[in-house]
Order: sequence, then structure tokens, then C-alpha cells
Amino acid sequence: MNKTNLRGAMLALMLGTASVAGIANAQVTTRPWADPKLSADQRADLLVKAMTQDEKLTLVYGYFGSPQTQPKFHPPAEARMGSAGYVPGIARLGLPPQWETDAGVGVATQRDSTDPYRERTSLPSGIATAATWNPDLAHKGGAMIGSEARDSGFNVMLAGGVNLLREPRNGRNFEYAGEDPLLAGTMVGAQIAGIQSNHIISTVKHYAFNNQETGRMVLSANIADDQARMSDLLAFEFAIEHADPGSVMCAYNRINGVYACENDYLLNQVLKTDWAYKGYVMSDWGGVHSTVDAANHGLDQESAGESFDKQKFFEGPLKAAVAAGQVPQARLDDMARRIVRAMVAHGVVDHPVTIKPIDFTANAKVTQADAEEAIVLLKNDKALLPLAKTAKKIAVIGSHADVGVMAGGGSSTVTPVGGNAVSGLGPKGFPGPIVYHPSSPLKAIQARNPGAQVRYADGTDPAAAAKLAADSDLVVVFAHQWAAEALDASLTLTDGQDALIAAVAAANPKTVVVLETGGPVLMPWLDKVGAVLEAWYPGTRGGEAIARVLYGEVDASGRLPATFPASLDQLPYPKLPGQDVAKDTRFEVDYAEGAAVGYKWYDLKGHTPLFPFGHGLSYTSFAYGGLTAQARNGTVTVSFQVKNIGARAGKAVPQVYVGPQIATGAGGWEAPRRLAGWKKLALAPGASQTVTLTVDPRLLATFDSKTKTWIVAPGDYQVSLGASSRDLKAQVPVTVAARTLPVSYDGK
Ligand code: BGC
Repeated sequence: MNKTNLRGAMLALMLGTASVAGIANAQVTTRPWADPKLSADQRADLLVKAMTQDEKLTLVYGYFGSPQTQPKFHPPAEARMGSAGYVPGIARLGLPPQWETDAGVGVATQRDSTDPYRERTSLPSGIATAATWNPDLAHKGGAMIGSEARDSGFNVMLAGGVNLLREPRNGRNFEYAGEDPLLAGTMVGAQIAGIQSNHIISTVKHYAFNNQETGRMVLSANIADDQARMSDLLAFEFAIEHADPGSVMCAYNRINGVYACENDYLLNQVLKTDWAYKGYVMSDWGGVHSTVDAANHGLDQESAGESFDKQKFFEGPLKAAVAAGQVPQARLDDMARRIVRAMVAHGVVDHPVTIKPIDFTANAKVTQADAEEAIVLLKNDKALLPLAKTAKKIAVIGSHADVGVMAGGGSSTVTPVGGNAVSGLGPKGFPGPIVYHPSSPLKAIQARNPGAQVRYADGTDPAAAAKLAADSDLVVVFAHQWAAEALDASLTLTDGQDALIAAVAAANPKTVVVLETGGPVLMPWLDKVGAVLEAWYPGTRGGEAIARVLYGEVDASGRLPATFPASLDQLPYPKLPGQDVAKDTRFEVDYAEGAAVGYKWYDLKGHTPLFPFGHGLSYTSFAYGGLTAQARNGTVTVSFQVKNIGARAGKAVPQVYVGPQIATGAGGWEAPRRLAGWKKLALAPGASQTVTLTVDPRLLATFDSKTKTWIVAPGDYQVSLGASSRDLKAQVPVTVAARTLPVSYDGK
């Protein structure tokens, strides 16, 4: 470039910069809310002031984004077709539409859409990510699916499922993060933060107590306030504190008789007052039942009203209710304000989404890393795993392991990159069909053992499978439980898989079972098999991840985020509530376990589960020592060391539990032990690490509904260090002074 050209270029550059700044300034003059120097609160106030009544009403009513044959499924043209939702923007004010997509494992297309499905990367199921006990991975996974949402033109992701696993048959357990409030809240919070790092909004859902699918539209989950605050609500509270999600999605069910999306207690009192939540509440699709009650009791936005609710409650009827003074104008202003505040605070306004190509190769690595740490080694007799590469004949059996890995069903299902590996299975309509990601465990096994003869039997004929097993050096049998939204699952494997596994194991004791399930299942064949891996629904690269764990290329480092029961009669409800109730008939579920969810129930009742919460074997061994606990100014700090005493590198997940000295439920304690912290540690052979954890005082406290405070009773507490909730390695007492925390306490 000669000098004149260089000067010209520099001048153009300067002018260019000047004119961009000029435009920005001009914009700030005409649109003061566009000023990024103002706070989200100030910008939201200015925006709402500038809005007409109709513009405010535009923001509080959403459409379904998926056209279908019935006229009520007819989204506006600007919706992203095949998506979950669309809320029009206000172009005059520079406010973009809200383009909403499901959900927690990636960008999910509505199955009945007439539009071509979006093929996208799928993370392992939510419960799988929880099983990593690794918040960094949850954050990375969230950041990855959030980037795919953004690059697909979405600025609201309906992720963040944090309902506690109270009912192991709940068909949506796979979307959630297990049974413990701290683990679930931390893991889901990390995922939400990752999603929102893309300048888009994530929800946290389904608020609250949507803990089973049977009767989800009609049942009432009944629980006392104190028990609620120490269990499911605490999981939401932790997730919200970690991530500040832009939106909370209220659930379908009723709580203590009142629908979640018009529940003053849940929405106005707990969420918006006690927790001072500043975002907006959106309804679940078909979750609205009124205009005045819903608006006055805290719902801010009706989702897909014309498609799923009995009326468009937040359209014309809301306008009329405000005009008639049944819903105060200030409430409508607050609804609009909360929505635009979230859009501003999370960058939706300043960083408009654009559709861009997606790097599926890079994203596959993110989901694979998650899947590898999610897989839980439940049993490993005689070090059958990791698999030796000396086997000459390997049998791979069942669950379409020749072509892919299973995904959970319903609104969260991501259409696989490369298409569904097994078509024609499951319900034709929602929540089907059954989807398999085309990541073949068989091929991944074969690739690691090129000299071996790897033969496949589909498992439909147990005798043929047993014959193949008998003629093999080792057997890997895959078993599945398909779980899906709108259905509850059975804990007994379907399609005769228990008999298949028993037949195969009888023919060859060197049998490894790989489970692809949404949550806990019963294992009547457990004593007969050599090893069991719980692989959950492992996502886009699940086959590869399973093989890496089978061959010990990575340690088996997942730990159970939920108890696996030994039998149905160990459950608070041996019979699933509502299973005999006629469809659409209301029924009550009085939570017998209160706040003693999952392992806390087993501890209280003295049940021995099949596998306890926190369980998971490693390919190496760890020694635990030096446990100390100190209480200073009411805060308990715990320290300990973990050493890898085996010959392989591995990952430990030391867990700290706290509870009263006398585990009788005395003093208002609902359970002997609560998870108070953990750390996932990567340790080379011989390496050790000291860990120090601070215990959130709410985990030592009981909630007192009368005074609305968290009360830590003075006295002695037991601090336990465990490799699971039942495998305790050391215990020390700690004396804690009395402490009272306000309901607004948020850990800071
Ligand atoms: C589900 C939500 C989902 C919504 C939109 C509902 O059926 O419960 O989790 O986000 O549909 O698809």
C-alpha cells in the first residue's frame, strides 16, 4: 500500500469509527434505554416508560413456534419454525423478539413440526451431567448448547431442570439432576451460567414439585412450608443464586391445592419476595388456568397460550382485566419490566442473535468429555473392567448398540447430527419417537480391539444371545429403559431385558452390563454379572465415551446423584401415586418423606439400597485422611486429604455430609445426614491433595416457617467424609453456636 492509500485507509477507519460512535450516541439520545452505561434496572424502567399499553401486553403473551395441522398451532411467520416458543419484539424500541428453544441437553426441535428438524449436538441427559459431580463440565456443556442456541437464532433456552428426584419412576428424572438440593442446584446452576454466557436467557424449571408425570396437569403435591424450603425449593434457590437465570418456568401441577402458575406462595412470596428474584416467571406450555389470579399471583408471561391453554389468558382477557382494575396497572408494568430487565441484563438486547454455522466437531468433544465423567461404575468384580485387549472373541448384545445410544423422550429431545440411528420405535406422536444418537458402542469397541472378533446379537432372542455369550471371551450387554416426558417409567427393565441379562450371564460370567436409563432401575441379575456401568443417556458421542470407560482410557469417575432402590417397597410410595386414577381426575400426593428426599429417606428408615447416593467405583484406589472441622462465627469449614494409592491416574469424589450427633430426627432434623460439599479431584498415582470446604449454614439449619428464618441449633454436629453417603471413611464432631439467618440469606 502506498502512502496516499494508507492515509486514505486510516482516514476511512477514523471516519468509520466516528460514525459508529455517532450512531450509538444518536441512539442513546433517541433511545435512552440503549445506553449500556446504565444499569439493567434503569434501562428496564426507561423502556417500560416508553411503552404503550399494547406493547406491554405484547411482551407477556407468547406463541408456540411449531406449525401443525390444527389451526391453533399456527405461529407468526417470524417465529423460528419447529421451535418451542416465540414472543414478538417491539421494533420501535429496538427490542428483539424472544425466540425460545428447548432445552437442557441442546437445541431441541418440536417433533411434529412440518419444518425440517434441526440436527444439533446433544449433551448427556441432565442426570448424567449431575453424575459427573463436576460443575466445570456442566458449565462448559451449558456454554456449548447455549452457543448452538444462539447460532440457531434463539435467545431464550428453556433449560435448567432442577426438580428433585423424589420419585424414581418419574419419566423426566433424566432431565433433572438427582435427589440432593446442593448437588442439583450447583450442577444445574453451573449449566445455566454456561448457557447465559452466550448473551441469552436460560430458565430454571419446573417451579416447583413437578416430580412425576402421571397426573402432572392435575395432581396436587402437598408439602409443608419448612419441608419445602429444605428440599425442592432449596435446589431452586441454589441454582438461582449460582446463575441468576433470566426466567423461572412455573410447573403444570398444583402445590397444596393451587396451580404452580397462579400460586401466590411460590411466585410472589418465596421467589419474588423472600429470594428477591428480579427475573420473570414464564408458564409451562399449557400451565395457565386464569387471568386475574395468575397475573396477581406472580405469573409474568403466558407461553404458547393459543396452542396449549384453554384461553389466551394473557391476551385480550388481561387487557380487559387491567382496564377493569382487577389486575393493577402496576402489575402489568412489573410484568413487562421483569421481562425487559432480563433481556437487558443477559445481553439479549445488546447482542442480537444471528444464525451462523455451528462447529459440530468441536462441540462433540464437549459432550464427550461430559459423558466420560458421567458414567458410573456400579460394580466391578475381579477387576473385569477395564477390559483387557487380549480378548479374541467379544459379544456385544442388545439395545441397538451396533448403531447408537438412546436419548430420553419429549420436548427436550435433540435431533441427532446425522439423524436418528434407529427409526420407527416408540410412540408415533409426542413424546416419541425413540431417538438414538448415531454413536455406535460396537464400532468403538471394535476400534479398540482390532484383532478381536466382535459379534453382535440384538438381544431379542435370549437363547441366541446366550449361545453367542458362551462362545465369547467376554460379553458386553447393553440394557435400556426409555423414559420420556408425559409418561412415568417402570423400574423394571422392559422387553424381557432382565431375562436376557440373566441368560447371558449364566452362559458367561465375564459379562459387563451397560445401562442406558433415565434414572434408577432394579437389577435382579446383579449377583450374576461381573460388572455394571450406568451410562444414562450419554448424548451425541455416547458410544465413544462408553468405550473409553470400558477400556480404561479414562477413569470411571461418575458418582450416583440418586439412590438406586433395592425394591419398590423401600420407596415413600411403593405404588406410584395416581396410577389408578382416571385421566384428568385430580388427586393429591402428600409427600410422606417431607424434606427427607432420596438418601435421607433411606437413612431415616434404615433401608439398605441397591446402590447408595454418591456411589461409584474408580479404576484406582483412594485413601482418605486428616479430616478436621472447625466452626468460626457460625461457619463450619472442613478439611481433609485424599491420596491416590493405586497404580492408575483417577478421579476421586470425596463427599462431606453433616448432621446432628444423634440421628433421630430430634430438634426438627428431618434426616441424619445432608450433603454439605464435595470436590472432584484428578490425582496421578501417588498424588494427594488437601481439600478445604465451607459448609453453607442452611445445610446445618432447619427452616422455621413462623419466623421465616433458618435456625442453626447450637450443639454438636457430626461431620462425615465419605466415598458415598453410605461409605463413610471418617467422622469428626464439631460444636456449632446458635445462628439465625434471614430468609433472604443467599450464601453471600
Ligand atoms: C415442558 C417444558 C418445555 C415446554 C416447551 C412442556 O411440555 O414441560 O419443559 O420447555 O413444553 O416445549
